[in-house]
Amino acid sequence: MNTFEAIRARHSIRKYQKGAVIPREHVERLLEAAMLAPSACNSRPWEFVVISNEELKEKITQIHPHTQMLKTASLAIVVCGRPDLQEGACSGFWPQDCGAAIQNLLLEATDLGYGCCWCGVYPVAERVEAFRSLLHVSSTPLAVVAVGKPDEAPDARGWFDPARVTYLD
Ligand SMILES: Cc1cc2nc3c(=O)[nH]c(=O)nc-3n(C[C@H](O)[C@H](O)[C@H](O)COP(=O)(O)O)c2cc1C
Repeated sequence: MNTFEAIRARHSIRKYQKGAVIPREHVERLLEAAMLAPSACNSRPWEFVVISNEELKEKITQIHPHTQMLKTASLAIVVCGRPDLQEGACSGFWPQDCGAAIQNLLLEATDLGYGCCWCGVYPVAERVEAFRSLLHVSSTPLAVVAVGKPDEAPDARGWFDPARVTYLD
């Protein structure tokens, strides 16, 4: 699968084959793809919490109403920002940097045959605090990504819209 094929094949998946196990080497590939993303001043302002524990996944569905797909997903990967790793002219870019890392992860997962759903946490303050307390982290939870073997094949929801483009020659 080339890059554009992976981009086209990626769709948010909300139904997974329950009980599918993702081998550690694949989990590390996803995280490596994430950490190869560009970041402001190469500050790499992220950390990742990988959750396979059923009880914890269930607790996430209680604190974030739009994560019900975690009930069948194999993993919840919580992507946390580290604003403390950015200073001066590099400050404040961490949400963009983490977004780039998440998209890399989604595309690598697609190439490996997994499905994902990116669920936003930041900037909803109550969600950020709830994830901090649940996971005992001092970083800033930005998103939780469900990962698993797809059990649905939704149609593409994105499209190329030339009306959103301005060419300045
Ligand atoms: C920042 C962000 C937050 C999102 N939050 C959720 C969410 O909480 N729950 C969910 O089911 N999908 C969530 N999504 C997935 C979007 O609904 C999805 O990407 C969009 O509908 C386009 O569909 P596609 O990903 O299949 O192209 C989120 C996506 C982004 C980028």
